[in-house]
Amino acid sequence: MTAPTDVPIAPDARLHVATHGSAAEPGATGRAGAKAILLGEHAVVYGRPAIAIPVRALGVEAHARPATGPGRLSSTLYHGPIAQAPDRLNVTLTAMRAALAAAGKPDAALDISIDSSVPAERGLGSSAAVSAAVIEAVLGACGLTADDETMHELIQTAERAAHGAPSGLDARTVRARAAVWFDGGRIEPVAVGDDLVFVIADTGVRGRTREAVAAVAERRESDPRRVESALDELGELATALRDDVSTGARDAIGRSMSRAHVLLNGLGVGDPALDHLVHAATAGGALGAKLTGGGRGGCVLALARDAASAHDLSDRLTRAGAAAVWTTTVEGAA
Ligand code: MEV
Repeated sequence: MTAPTDVPIAPDARLHVATHGSAAEPGATGRAGAKAILLGEHAVVYGRPAIAIPVRALGVEAHARPATGPGRLSSTLYHGPIAQAPDRLNVTLTAMRAALAAAGKPDAALDISIDSSVPAERGLGSSAAVSAAVIEAVLGACGLTADDETMHELIQTAERAAHGAPSGLDARTVRARAAVWFDGGRIEPVAVGDDLVFVIADTGVRGRTREAVAAVAERRESDPRRVESALDELGELATALRDDVSTGARDAIGRSMSRAHVLLNGLGVGDPALDHLVHAATAGGALGAKLTGGGRGGCVLALARDAASAHDLSDRLTRAGAAAVWTTTVEGAA
């Protein structure tokens, strides 16, 4: 496990004394939400744009307060001393250490509790959301807040522990409140012409983002022409989708999503359980459906025609064997 001194301090960390608390106070809370990638996963690692949406039904709340003895962690995965936390909590601990290092208190002992409804390893941004909430809570417990760029850098420090060279899409999106366009490492809001109702269905199979990202990299080495052409098409679909979202062109959005699923399968990040739910979604009236996130398991994102059909679609996906189903609406301006 990484020693505290190995955690890089964000080089130009811009931290501010919290106006609503101080180090003398008993603790602080951090929050972040789940995300779903509407289009552009994997292609975004190679500089293509992406669109992601917040999933408001799912979120993480972390609480941190100065410990009276050695720091302890309390979460669904582990309860006990931080010093003995298992390696599978490495991302969370990296987030905590990065925040403490940035605050100039690398050795501070904190009690941290994490309450998350975001399923882990399902492509919904659980690792970035937990990291974001923990970092905000730890900084808060030190009497500090961070600006957006510093938060992003700190979350990225933890995301690198999760899967090597993250694009930054997850780190940005788990703190966003609306649909975002991600390009060149930055996000901006996406105009939404009309309400879009999505159903997210969990295959119950753990997604393997690190492996999936490595598989795309290998395939790109061995077959650069085919992979670059798929990445280009994913980038073009994301660009077209942005316009379609702004005009509320649901059928076109659905078609782009379904095409993206085919292209992602071609990149080697699919899984039979994902295909099964994608087919169930389209047979159940979805306008389009695709894997979302790293793939090789995880969730399917399906676009419903409207709220009433989202209800039927959810039932259909549950009957098809989805381990869990959520509905999320991206609200239009109208
Ligand atoms: C994972 O949620 C999204 C990927 O594109 C990886 C990344 O953007 O770093 C697969």
